[in-house]
Amino acid sequence: MTESSLPAPLREQLDYYRARAGEYNQWWLRLGRYDRGDEANARWFSEAAEVSTALADFHPAGRILEFACGTGIWTEQLVPFASQLTALDGSPEMLAVNSARVHSPLVRYLQADLFHWEPSAQYDVIFFGFWLSHVPPDRFAAFWRLVDSCLAPGGRVFFVDSRREPTSTAIDHALPELESTLSLRRLDDGREFQVYKVFYEPAELQERLRGLGWDFDLRQTERYFLYGMGGKSRPA
Ligand SMILES: C[S@@+](CC[C@H](N)C(=O)[O-])C[C@H]1O[C@@H](n2cnc3c(N)ncnc32)[C@H](O)[C@@H]1O
Repeated sequence: MTESSLPAPLREQLDYYRARAGEYNQWWLRLGRYDRGDEANARWFSEAAEVSTALADFHPAGRILEFACGTGIWTEQLVPFASQLTALDGSPEMLAVNSARVHSPLVRYLQADLFHWEPSAQYDVIFFGFWLSHVPPDRFAAFWRLVDSCLAPGGRVFFVDSRREPTSTAIDHALPELESTLSLRRLDDGREFQVYKVFYEPAELQERLRGLGWDFDLRQTERYFLYGMGGKSRPA
């Protein structure tokens, strides 16, 4: 499947991340347009550390698959736990940044479009950071079927994503209207793109996942992050 076979909004979303690869880490590091002042930045870093600790406590192990791996913020945290890590992303630019950063023989990089990709192996752990919010609502169930199809029996999933918080994003990005699932993003050079950005409340997300046969422990940090760990529900 090629990028050009994606419907226009999903192609624009991938185009945005392809163009943003070189400046993506400014968001995580609270630099440039993402610098929200000392107090908010300190809170961001402390809450990010909270999620990293939760991920380490989750003990990812064995064959790990990371969806939408981006620049490697999470790949580098997963590698120490992995016997083998497959890091998938639709953007070759992101994969190049990730590989230069993580530089590990344990990591196999895969350029693929998650809306068309089919796995040829199964994994003990699947991880995705800041990806679920970019899955269009009408593809939610299909996305979780994909996760299921990648998971070995007894496999586990960990994900982290954004809470609806204005200071999470750049100063020149506005949060979408409450009912909207599309958000306008800008690059440093002023180019504009629309991306999907769906914010979830833990209770509602837990219910929806339960309805699809998943059992998740969902948690939030005080302001910025939602994260969850779980797997397929056991038959009663
Ligand atoms: C918000 S970033 C998250 C990156 C990383 N997981 C993190 O937490 O920093 C979203 C990632 O999804 C990738 N992506 C966008 N559309 C995609 C698609 N259709 N298939 C696979 N990856 C895609 C982008 O290239 C980008 O690396």
